Amino acid sequence: MPVRRDDGHVYLADYQPPAWRIPHADLRFDLDPDATEVEARLRLEPARPGEPLLLDGEDLELLAIELDGQPLPPERYDYDGQRLCVHGVAAACELRTRVRIRPAANTRLEGLYRSGSLLLTQCESEGFRRITFLADRPDVMPTWRITLRAERRAYPVLLANGNPVGSRELEGGRHEAVWENPHPTPGYLFAIAAGPLARVSTTLTTAEGRRVELNVWAEAGDVERCRYALGAVERALRWDEQRFGRCYDLDVFNIVAAQDFTMGAMENKGLNIFNARYILADEATATDTDFLAIESVVAHEYLHNWSGNRVTLRDWFQLSLKEGLTVYRDSEFSADLHSRALKRIEVVRLLRGRQFAEDAGPLAHPVRPQRYREISNFYTLTVYEKGAELIRVLQALVGDEAFQAGMARYFADNDGRAATLEDFLAAHAAASGRDLSDFARWYAQAGTPELRISASFDEASGDYALEIIQSQPATPGQPGPKAPLPIPLRFALYGPAGQRVGAAPQTDAPVRGDLLELREARHVLRWPGLGFQPLPAFNQGFSAPVRLRFDYTPAQLATLARWEADPFSRWDLLQQLAVQAITGTDARVAATEALREVLAGLLADDGADPAFVAECLALPDFDTLAEAVPVVDPQALAGARESLLATLAAALEQPLRQRYAALAAAAGGGLQASAMAARALRNACLDWLGHLDTVPAQTQFDATATMTERLAALRVLLHRQAPGAEAALAAFRERFAGDPLVTDKWIGLVATRPAADALADVQWLLASPWWKPANPNRVRAVLGNLSRGNPLAFHRLDGAGHRLIADQVAAIDPINPQVAARLLGAFEGWRRLRSGLRESAEAALASLQDRLASADGRDLLDRLRA
Ligand code: ARG
Ligand code: ZN
Repeated sequence: MPVRRDDGHVYLADYQPPAWRIPHADLRFDLDPDATEVEARLRLEPARPGEPLLLDGEDLELLAIELDGQPLPPERYDYDGQRLCVHGVAAACELRTRVRIRPAANTRLEGLYRSGSLLLTQCESEGFRRITFLADRPDVMPTWRITLRAERRAYPVLLANGNPVGSRELEGGRHEAVWENPHPTPGYLFAIAAGPLARVSTTLTTAEGRRVELNVWAEAGDVERCRYALGAVERALRWDEQRFGRCYDLDVFNIVAAQDFTMGAMENKGLNIFNARYILADEATATDTDFLAIESVVAHEYLHNWSGNRVTLRDWFQLSLKEGLTVYRDSEFSADLHSRALKRIEVVRLLRGRQFAEDAGPLAHPVRPQRYREISNFYTLTVYEKGAELIRVLQALVGDEAFQAGMARYFADNDGRAATLEDFLAAHAAASGRDLSDFARWYAQAGTPELRISASFDEASGDYALEIIQSQPATPGQPGPKAPLPIPLRFALYGPAGQRVGAAPQTDAPVRGDLLELREARHVLRWPGLGFQPLPAFNQGFSAPVRLRFDYTPAQLATLARWEADPFSRWDLLQQLAVQAITGTDARVAATEALREVLAGLLADDGADPAFVAECLALPDFDTLAEAVPVVDPQALAGARESLLATLAAALEQPLRQRYAALAAAAGGGLQASAMAARALRNACLDWLGHLDTVPAQTQFDATATMTERLAALRVLLHRQAPGAEAALAAFRERFAGDPLVTDKWIGLVATRPAADALADVQWLLASPWWKPANPNRVRAVLGNLSRGNPLAFHRLDGAGHRLIADQVAAIDPINPQVAARLLGAFEGWRRLRSGLRESAEAALASLQDRLASADGRDLLDRLRA
């Protein structure tokens, strides 16, 4: 049981193994939305004799308690609403409890709750204790028998973890289903789902010869839109067999889609529960981006069956051991199935735009934190995305073959165990023969490392050299100095005509081909007598999650963008060029011209992948730009970005129109890569053209059958305030009125219109029937989009945007603390705002001091204000 110190934090250093083991749990539910009764029989065994028997249980109404069949008198136990302590037990025993819980009143969506006509659960991290008593920690792993009883009419389908082992009719229109989960499984992976569910289904045989039924369940009207997700499960299952040799291990794999869900999805053993937005899709209601996101989240949760479930966590400090690893695995899955380069671009955009910002602000923390007050606040970009990058760093350091062997060893050595990062590193150290203690620092030190690189060339001798200096920023609780990290840095040198220089440098850092391994704070690479001044390029494929500083002129960036073969690097160089064109001072004009020239070339190149060209047209987003400047002036940044777009759109109008028209046939319909790519580039062109002319957007809006094209057109009409915008919005709203996920889409467009007065539209939404503060997707659609996707309205000069978000955080905190805390995170960059806005953000945060009651909200507020 994690002990909190007096400062309110749980510390990694205080970890103690469980005092009691729970080899088996037998649960019986009498399900009812208003009052569900849960009877639990826990087999208990002392692991360290003499320790008291303590179980977690939050806000449970205790109806009965028995030890080994004997009712316990009140003096034998204490329950304070958080913890049950049973006195005077020293030996193995069976504890039986009966509690009452209230799903319909559960707006936190942790534990058992109601969503529409369904009853379902969310237990990670500490939600199980809101269902019944258990040592609710990931290293306590019972096997399970779960009996569900409910009224048949309202709850015809009854699902739980594991395999179905029986069902029967009961008196009074009730029925019963029994499930068994034979795999040792911690409470956070427990799940049940009940309701009028319909399914799409398929069966297959695993590589080990097991027959498995795959089902994706949703409320009846939605079931046809589950087919794509079902296909994604099958693809993920096969991929894990082929790439990692991992097979599925139960007779059924169930997924349930729910409209009310706090996060994306949850990997409960054999019964994944999903936010409906990551399941439901057809071409009329979901965009191509939605389809790809569905496939990747379905894969993510499926892949957790090995990285998370079969091998689980010893404690919550190890969270990235499952999350970083599983994000790595799902992104490899997407890269293998589709385009590796495009997947890398997507991942790096998120990392550089958002994770770097997290790492640079008041919420920065190591991938493995040392302490937490509320673990829910550590489901972060750092734990997930940076954690995934660290797996990639490890792979680069040890090489592909040793990495693959290390993964096999990790799974084999830790199967059925609750593991730590040390176990993971030990498996990789054994497989690669490499001492990984330096690599472990990546998990302990917060902040994004910076590499400053400078070149020198001696005309007389022809000697060329690069000096690379590594530094680590100070972060909250880690003032430094920090030790250097092992950084795998790819690099290339180009001669005057674009030929790759093959000569290896003289250096004290290990070099393997084009991969340099930085180990010290400073390394020098020398090419004596090279004879000319080459053009260097670095970090191809984003081999290391670092900020890299090298002084390029716009012309050099444009040249490299032509010479580099790797599409990711070419995209990256164009992003840097765009950053110069937007935030630069002297280089601005030259950068704009260079960018125009390269983009003109790309638009004219029929051989270039249209999806790649679309990525190149997508200028760095606001977050990425904000990361490139020391003080953030939202109005100036957004204005400069906007004017660059307008300039380039005018200069490239003809090629944009031509490309848009030429791709019409290819964009028609279907989910094949060529159609998706055509739609992506057409929509990018449409967006740029929108700066000059909204007629093509109106035409596309009226004519298309796909959501991908319809939504992109509506976005241009709304954001450019085209004459037909209001009518188009009304038509869209009407057409999809019954669909909450599509409703979230138009709301998102309204909330992100890039103008200060979009705040009035958000206020209108908050007063409308569309506002549903208890539905997390709707909160994100309205307020997440405003705070994270609309800098001009959120950072309004009069402070109204900051106040609105703060007030809404206060209003949502008592409903769903995790959602409120997420929203509050939008203030993470407040200290770097220009003066005026900084004060307004500070005042908005101060106004929350006495308005947040939840542990989630208070923890985040204190860290933001520290
Ligand atoms: N494990 C889930 C995933 O696949 C996310 C659970 C999030 N839990 C939370 N308390 N925020 O990533
Ligand atoms: Zn996950």
